[in-house]
Amino acid sequence: CGIVGYIGGRDAYPIVIKGLQRLEYRGYDSAGVALINEKNSLNIYKKAGKVKDLEDFVKDRDISGSVGMGHTRWATHGEPSDRNSHPHQSGDGRLAIIHNGIIENYGPLKEELITRGHEFKSDTDTEVLIHLIEDIQKEGNLSLEESVRTALHQVIGAFAIVIIDKESPNELIAARKGSPMVIGVGKGEYFIASDATPIVEYTKNVIYLNDNEIAYLKRDELIIKSIDNIIQTPYIQELNLKLEMLEKGGYDHFMLKEIYEQPRSIYDSMRGRIYPLEGKVQLGGLVEYSEKLRNANRIIIVACGTSWHAGLVGEYLIEEFARLPVEVEYASEFRYRNPVIYENDIVIAISQSGETADTMAAIELAKEKGATILGICNVVGSSIPRLTHGGAYTHAGPEIGVASTKAFTAQVTVLTLIAFYAAQIKGTLSQSKLTSLLTELESIPSLVEKALATNDIIVKIAEEFKDSTNCIFLGRGTGFPVALEGALKLKEISYIHAEGYPAAEMKHGPIALIDEQMPVIVIATKNSSYEKVISNIQEVKARKGKIIAIVTEGDTEVKNMADYVIEIPHADEAFLPLLATIPLQLISYHIAVMRGCNVDQPRNLAKSVTVE
Ligand code: G6P
Repeated sequence: CGIVGYIGGRDAYPIVIKGLQRLEYRGYDSAGVALINEKNSLNIYKKAGKVKDLEDFVKDRDISGSVGMGHTRWATHGEPSDRNSHPHQSGDGRLAIIHNGIIENYGPLKEELITRGHEFKSDTDTEVLIHLIEDIQKEGNLSLEESVRTALHQVIGAFAIVIIDKESPNELIAARKGSPMVIGVGKGEYFIASDATPIVEYTKNVIYLNDNEIAYLKRDELIIKSIDNIIQTPYIQELNLKLEMLEKGGYDHFMLKEIYEQPRSIYDSMRGRIYPLEGKVQLGGLVEYSEKLRNANRIIIVACGTSWHAGLVGEYLIEEFARLPVEVEYASEFRYRNPVIYENDIVIAISQSGETADTMAAIELAKEKGATILGICNVVGSSIPRLTHGGAYTHAGPEIGVASTKAFTAQVTVLTLIAFYAAQIKGTLSQSKLTSLLTELESIPSLVEKALATNDIIVKIAEEFKDSTNCIFLGRGTGFPVALEGALKLKEISYIHAEGYPAAEMKHGPIALIDEQMPVIVIATKNSSYEKVISNIQEVKARKGKIIAIVTEGDTEVKNMADYVIEIPHADEAFLPLLATIPLQLISYHIAVMRGCNVDQPRNLAKSVTVE
C-alpha cells in the first residue's frame, strides 16, 4: 500500500492526491483521504478503485485543510470496497488512521474490543488498531502520544501508520515497524510517504524512519522517539532523485519508457565497476567481503518474483565462472523451512524495492544463523540495504511500471559482475578470458539498443497472437530463466496463461498442450545448446504449434522452421539474458496494449509487497 501525509501552511489535499498518484503503483484497489479543515472537522473520503475514482468522488466536497493524509490500498484483509478502504476511524470519529502492513493479532484484539463495546464498520485489521488506540486513550485518560505507544506495544505484525486527531488538529503522528516510511523536511512543513516519490518535488531533505520509531509532527516541529519513549536524533539525508525520473517522458506507459531505458540502466549498473583495459571488476560494497567470498562454501540467493528469475541467471553465471555452488530460493519458502545455513555461506538477497516482506524475513533468518548477507537492490535507502552486510545497488533508476523490466536487466548485470568478481578473487578464470568478457560486457548497452530495434516485427507478432489464451516459453541454459521471466511478464500484464519451461523438459508434460492454436516462444540463439533447441523446435512443429524464435542475427536454420523470427545481436552466452529478455518484454507489452489491459497497473498486483 502507499501512504502519504502532509502538515504545513499549504492546502493538504493537492499534495496528498498527487502523492497518491505517484504511489499508485504500490497498490490500487482503493484510495482515500482524510483532512482536518479550519473548523477542526475531520473529512474522510474513500472509494474502491483508482485514485482517479476518488478524485471524481470528492468534486464539490470540502477538501480544505492544511493537515491531511491519504492511502492507496493493496487489499490484505477484506475485499476492496469503499468500506474497507483507508482511512479508518475510531468509534467516536475523533481519530483517523492509514496503515500499510498487517496486524497479525488483530483477531483476538478485535474480539476483546467487541466485548468492550466497540463496533466495527470494516473487515480490516487497521480499524482494530485505531479502536485499540481509542480504547487505551479513554480507559487511561492518556494523551494520544501515550495511547499510540501503548497500542503499538500490543500489536504483532508489520506496519507503517499515520494518525490524525481532530482534537489536536495541528499534529500528525507516524510510526514504523517493518514497512517503509520517509519524512520530507520542508520549511514550516513536513511530508510523509511510503517512499520518496511523492516528496521529491517539494524537498530533497528526507529522514528514513527506522523500525520501532514514532514521529510526532507539527508544522514547525519534528520529534522522533523510539517505541520505548526515548528521543532519537533524526538523520537528514539528501535525496538523489529527480522529478523527471517519475514522469512518462512522452511514452504511453511507464513500462514502455522503462523498457527503452535499458541501454542506459544497464550501463549505469556497470558504470565505474568494470575496467576492461586492466581486466578488473571492482565492487565497492563487496570489497570487505572478498575473503568471505574466496572461502565461501556456497551461495544462496533469496528473492521473489522477477528478482527470483534474475537469481536463476545468477546461479548459472556464478557456477560457470566462479565455480561456486549456488542455490536459488523463493524467500517465502526458505524462511518457513528450517534451511541448512553455515557460517561460511553467503546469502545474496535480490529485491528491486528493497522492501519485500518475505525477502526481509529470509535475510533475518540467515543472519541469525551466522551467514554473510549481500543485497542487490534498486531503491536507495530502502530497508533491505540496511539489513544486509554489504552489496551492490542496481542503479536502474525508479521503476514505476508494476511489471519489472529495467530492474530485472539491472539485477542480471550486477549478478554478472558478481560472478566475474568472484571469479577474479578465486582465480577461476584466466586473465585473458576475464578481459575479453569485460570488453564484451562494455558493449552490451549498444547491443541492447539493437535488440530494441526489433520492435516493429514484434508489433506484427503481437497482432497475430493477441487473442491467444495460452503461450509457452522455452529456453535452455541461461535462456531458461529468461523463458520464465518472459512467461511471467505475459501473464502479469495481458492475463494470458503462460508457462516457461526448460526446452528439453517440454516433452515431459507441456507437449500435451501443443496444437495449432499454441504459440511457443523459443530462445534459439547460437550458443552451446543451439542444436538441442532446434530439436525441441521440431518437436513443436511436428504437433503444429506456432514457433516464434528469438535467434542470433543472420541465422538461417531456425528461420526455415519458425513461423516468426526475432533477430538479436550475437554475444557471448553469458550475456544472452540481457539481450533475449528485451524482445520478450516488448511482446508482452504490445499484446497487453492490444488487449486493452492496464499495462502499468495490472489487476491484483502491486509493485512492492510489504506483507508476507
Ligand atoms: C511484486 C512485484 C514483482 C516483483 C516482486 C518482488 O510481486 O509485482 O514485479 O518481482 O514483487 O519484488 P522486489 O521488490 O523484492 O524485487
